[in-house]
Amino acid sequence: MTDLAEFGFHEIFIEGDQSAPVLLLLHGTGGDERDLLDLGKSVAPNASILSIRGKITENGMPRFFRRLAEGVFDQEDLAFRTNELAGFIAAAKKHYHLEDRPLYALGFSNGANIAASLLLRNPEALDGAILLRAMIPFEPEALPDLSSKRILLIAGLMDQIIPAEQSKRLAEIFEQSKAEIKFILKPAGHQLIQSDLQDIQKFLAE
Ligand code: MLT
Repeated sequence: MTDLAEFGFHEIFIEGDQSAPVLLLLHGTGGDERDLLDLGKSVAPNASILSIRGKITENGMPRFFRRLAEGVFDQEDLAFRTNELAGFIAAAKKHYHLEDRPLYALGFSNGANIAASLLLRNPEALDGAILLRAMIPFEPEALPDLSSKRILLIAGLMDQIIPAEQSKRLAEIFEQSKAEIKFILKPAGHQLIQSDLQDIQKFLAE
């Protein structure tokens, strides 16, 4: 058994069907590992779920990496936390015997941003990702090879926290990196809406 405790994350693991993918749930700022459980279960009832809590706190609110201001990220911390998360995912796959199953991140806001950072920096950590209200975490110096990755990126036109331009740029980078990307820009704000659920279900069923 691999010792996951040394990573210091709070996590929840729910075993699903062995033939179904694994969903890695990554909450938004101020959330925790319980936040996206209902969403995960409703979009993929048979999937195994690994849900973790970000280790940074900002005024008591958990996050996955530090920021200097809203939308301005501490790049050094982001790089460190992204590598740390990639290490945790590799260890968790061994610990829970998930190596043969596809692993998709399902992230909202800050959780979607670190999932995007994983795809750009440590693409081997994920087989794909569902990114809800994500922005570009950094401009990569070199494009990763994402040719085997499936990505769903859903952005809100009226999102006050994530400007649509930022999500568009992220979609463009994924496209240039040869990912199989589906980008949906819809009349929504930062909060999730009912049609997000349907879009995710459709993506996972394809
Ligand atoms: C971030 O800090 O990751 C983004 O601004 C989204 C958020 O507020 O969590």
